[in-house]
Amino acid sequence: MKIGFLHSLIRKDEKLLLAEFKKHKEVELVMVDDRELIFRLGHDHFDFEVLLERSINHSRALHALTLFEKAGVRCINTSQVATVCGDKLLTSNALSRDGVPQPEVRVAFTEASAIQAIEELGYPVVLKPAVGSWGRLLAKVNDRDAAEALLEHKSILGTYHHSIFYIQKYVEKSGRDIRSFVVGDRCIAAIYRSSEHWITNTARGAVASNCPVTEEICTISLQAAKAVGGGILAIDLFETADGLLVNEVNYTMEFKNSIDTTGVNIPQHIVDYTIAVAQGEVP
Ligand SMILES: Nc1ncnc2c1ncn2[C@@H]1O[C@H](COP(=O)(O)OP(=O)(O)O)[C@@H](O)[C@H]1O
Ligand SMILES: [Mg+2]
Repeated sequence: MKIGFLHSLIRKDEKLLLAEFKKHKEVELVMVDDRELIFRLGHDHFDFEVLLERSINHSRALHALTLFEKAGVRCINTSQVATVCGDKLLTSNALSRDGVPQPEVRVAFTEASAIQAIEELGYPVVLKPAVGSWGRLLAKVNDRDAAEALLEHKSILGTYHHSIFYIQKYVEKSGRDIRSFVVGDRCIAAIYRSSEHWITNTARGAVASNCPVTEEICTISLQAAKAVGGGILAIDLFETADGLLVNEVNYTMEFKNSIDTTGVNIPQHIVDYTIAVAQGEVP
């Protein structure tokens, strides 16, 4: 069985996946480096029917997935999932459509309408680039002075993408959020990410600890995964007095710091799922 493995730099996460694939003698992995990849539209034939995407760069992943699918390759995750998860606005839209609880969100296109949306929500709010990750360029806005300055800076100094204003109500989350891991129809593990800073990405220094997968975590994680199209996904959750909220869904999930923490062999689940897809066992 041949399976494509789309990658850029091989990070620790990819090394762990490759080691898991090695345990399966029936699998022949075809390494596809996105830095060397050339698509020849209309002439592309790949000798694998399924591909696992592990690119580091979102736009590269998204375009590659689109073109692989055009050439008849089944991709994990799909280009549709990458499209939705890669854009917080589309993610919120999908969650809202399916009635999955999330923080209040407003979207606006001008400084004036954005200020109005922010005041409607009430301070503090969080402004985020619709496309972005690792906690970069997030801004917590505590008052109108900061809001006006930030919007002006974004409008004048930012690129086109930064004048699509994605505005979220700030959620008091007492020093931590939850990252859950979904593979197919199972929520396999979760971690707390704790930090003194309001941004709790581990890439920004937050500390990971095990979070038992409660029924509530499992249910909302699977709902969120389904809303964006399903597959292998990492879900950011906020705990509130009124229950859990889905903050965002990540589609090329990083897991290296969560294996020892949770005691769950996450790469093994990913590899088993990929093989199941290749064997036609996943609809
Ligand atoms: N509305 C919010 N309220 C409170 N904290 C937030 C909010 N939005 C983001 N954060 C914090 O910032 C982190 C990164 O935000 P996120 O939306 O997940 O963007 P990224 O794609 O960069 O990870 C979250 O894990 C959380 O700790
Ligand atoms: Mg996040």
